[in-house]
Amino acid sequence: MSSSVLFVCLGNICRSPTAHGVFEHKLREAGLAGRVRVDSAGTGDWHVGNPPDPRTVAAAARRGYDLSPLRARQVSGRDFEQFDYILAMDNSNLQALQRMKPARYSGVLDLFLRQGGAPVLEVPDPYYGGESGFDRVLDLVEQASEQLLAHVRERLR
Ligand code: 4NP
Repeated sequence: MSSSVLFVCLGNICRSPTAHGVFEHKLREAGLAGRVRVDSAGTGDWHVGNPPDPRTVAAAARRGYDLSPLRARQVSGRDFEQFDYILAMDNSNLQALQRMKPARYSGVLDLFLRQGGAPVLEVPDPYYGGESGFDRVLDLVEQASEQLLAHVRERLR
C-alpha cells in the first residue's frame, strides 16, 4: 500500500515547503521515500511558480534540508482525488480547504500539528516577522514530521 501527503499553507513559500522538504528528508532516512508521495501547495496564488522565500531556504539549509528545487503552486479540487492526507498549517488554511472539500473525500483533512507532539496546533506564519520565526517553523515541523512518519509507517505495514 502506498500513501500520499499534501502540506498546505497560504503562500506555499514558507511553511508548507518547509514541511514538504523536512518530511521527504525523514522518509528518505527511514527508507520509505518511494512509498509516499509528498507535495505542498498554497491556498493563495500570489507566489505560483516561485521558489520558497530565501529566508525559508536559508533556515532549512542550516539544518540540512534543501528546499531550493521546490516551486509554489495553488491547491486545487483535484488534490482531493490524489492525496490521502491534506494537512494545513493553520486554522485559516484549514477552513479554506474545508470549503473546497468534495463531500466524497475519504482522506484526512486536518491541521498538521494535530499529528501530535507539538505544544501548539498552528504553525505561525513567519512571512512578516524576523529570522526567529523561520526557526520556530522548523522546530514545529520537525516535531510533527516525526509523529506523521510514525503514523504513515503503521499504515504502510
Ligand atoms: P506561507 O507564508 O503561507 O507560510 O507560505 C506566506 C507567504 C506569503 C504571504 C503570506 C504568507 N503573502 O501574503 O504573500
